[in-house]
Amino acid sequence: MKKVPLFLKIVLIILLSPLILAVVLILLVFNTLARIVRKFWHFPMPEFMAPWIDNKYRHKYVQPPDVMAARHGILPGMKVLEIGPGNATYTIASAERVGPKGSVTAIDIEPKMAERAGRRLKEAGITNAEARVADVYAMPFADNTFDLCYMMMVIGEIPDMRRAVTDIRRVLKPGGLLTFTEILIDPDYPLKSTLIRKVTPLGFKVKQFTGGFVHYTLIFEKA
Ligand SMILES: C[S@@+](CC[C@H](N)C(=O)[O-])C[C@H]1O[C@@H](n2cnc3c(N)ncnc32)[C@H](O)[C@@H]1O
Repeated sequence: MKKVPLFLKIVLIILLSPLILAVVLILLVFNTLARIVRKFWHFPMPEFMAPWIDNKYRHKYVQPPDVMAARHGILPGMKVLEIGPGNATYTIASAERVGPKGSVTAIDIEPKMAERAGRRLKEAGITNAEARVADVYAMPFADNTFDLCYMMMVIGEIPDMRRAVTDIRRVLKPGGLLTFTEILIDPDYPLKSTLIRKVTPLGFKVKQFTGGFVHYTLIFEKA
């Protein structure tokens, strides 16, 4: 392949930089506006947006599904609960990680989203995971059912964190894990310190933190 001369590269960078800057600025403005709106108006992410957040760049460079399943603390044989599966990409990876002796139950408050997740699980040939409609405030599960519950980019969409975490604690087994994964570009992104401040008084202790400011995973253990 022909090598691009250095001066041409420099010219290209100079010509493209205003464009790159404009894209970054647009994203910044959009994100800031979305954050302001979300301060006052909470609603679950609409189903048509699922493919936007579930893209190949995220899977390849930021949050590869198999890496995330391990980072969430999921082990073979576990009974896992996922809140807000979106496109179910991470549900599939979790189901593969728990293996045939484990299971994954994904719940979503949006019927269309749960339907989409169920369809994706079926298409992927996953038999140890299911997606159903349920609200995290009052889940249709018995006390002490799950080994681990995880939420990726979900907790910020839920207006009453206390109510949600209280019901999650109820369905977790003693010593069960509650995992949050967050990413800065999400307009509902909570700071790690906010989660620690709000979740620990509800009967959890911090077990593990991975990542940094841009994206992180925070694992709590049921105390
Ligand atoms: C931003 S999407 C995240 C999707 C997926 N976890 C991911 O990271 O690609 C948030 C999901 O949480 C669901 N959700 C919001 N509030 C909920 C609630 N109260 N109970 C259950 N699911 C909820 C939404 O319907 C949506 O599917």
